[in-house]
Amino acid sequence: MTTIQVKESLNLFRCPLCGGRMRLVAGRSIVCAKNHCFDLAKRGYVNLLTSPVKTEYDKEMLESRSIIIRSGLFEPLTGKLAGLILDHACGPHTDVTRILDAGCGEGSHLARVIQSMKNRNDGQVTGVGIDISKEGIQIASREYPDITWCVADLAKVPFKDGGFHVVLNILSPANYSEFKRLLTGDGILIKVVPGSGYLMELRELFYRSTGKEKYSNERVVAHFEENFNTAGTWDLLYSIPVDKHNLEHLIKMTPLSWGAAEKNITEALKKGIDSITVDLTVILGKK
Ligand SMILES: C[S@@+](CC[C@H](N)C(=O)[O-])C[C@H]1O[C@@H](n2cnc3c(N)ncnc32)[C@H](O)[C@@H]1O
Ligand SMILES: [Zn+2]
Repeated sequence: MTTIQVKESLNLFRCPLCGGRMRLVAGRSIVCAKNHCFDLAKRGYVNLLTSPVKTEYDKEMLESRSIIIRSGLFEPLTGKLAGLILDHACGPHTDVTRILDAGCGEGSHLARVIQSMKNRNDGQVTGVGIDISKEGIQIASREYPDITWCVADLAKVPFKDGGFHVVLNILSPANYSEFKRLLTGDGILIKVVPGSGYLMELRELFYRSTGKEKYSNERVVAHFEENFNTAGTWDLLYSIPVDKHNLEHLIKMTPLSWGAAEKNITEALKKGIDSITVDLTVILGKK
C-alpha cells in the first residue's frame, strides 16, 4: 500500500480507539482528532491493533499458504467469488466496488478475486484486506502492493459504517454484527466454509479412527443464516493432483496439522498422496 492508496482509502478508516475520522500526517502516520496515531510500516501496511495478540498463523504457515494458493488450488473458488461480486454487487450506479476481505491471511485470495474481476469487467475496484496476523499482512503487502492491507481484528474493525459493498470472509472466523455495520444497505457478505470433504486425504492420514476424521459445517452455516438473509449457496467440489514439493506446503498451510501427531505427519510426507480434495460451501447473504 502506497501513501497515495492510503489517501484514497483514508475516508474508509475510523480510529480503533475512539471511532473518530483519520487523516494522513507527514505521509507516514494516520491520526485521529484525539491524536491516536498509527504509523505506516515501511513495507506499506498499517497496524491498527490496539493491543498485541498472539496467533498461531505464523510466517512459515502463511508462506506455505501463499505457495499453495498461487499454485492454483483455489482457482475455481476465486473465479466463483469474482463472478458473484460482479453479478450481485456491481450495479450500474456503483462507480467503485469496495471489497473488504476480513481474515485475509496472506492476501492471495483477495488479489486473485480482484484480478479475475478486472479480466471480465472494466469497473473500478478498491480492495482492503485485514488480518490479526502481522505475518500474513506483511506477506500480503510484499506480494500485492496495490491493495490496502491492515493488521486488525475483525471483531473490532477500524473502518466506518457502510463503507463496503462486499465483505469476504474466507475460511476465517466471522463477526456478523461488525459485517452488518460495515456493509452498505444493499451490500453482500460472502462467506466460504469448508465442506465435509475439504482436504479429506490429509484428515484421513492425520486423524484416522479418532473421530476427528469427519467434519460437518452445519453449525457454521446455521449461525450464518441466523444473522444474514441467505441469497444463495454454492458447493464447490474438485480434486487436484499433489506433487511431493506441494504436499509439504499443503501440510504446513492448514490448521488441520496443528492437532496431528508428529508421526502421522512424517508418515504422510513419506507416503505422499496422489491428489487432494477441495470441498467448499460459498454462502451469499444480505442484511
Ligand atoms: C485458515 S486462515 C484463512 C486465511 C485466508 N482467508 C485464506 O483462506 O487463506 C484463518 C485466518 O483468520 C485470521 N483470524 C483469526 N482470528 C481473527 C480476528 N479476530 N481478526 C482478524 N483475523 C483473524 C487468522 O490470522 C488467519 O489468517
Ligand atoms: Zn482516536
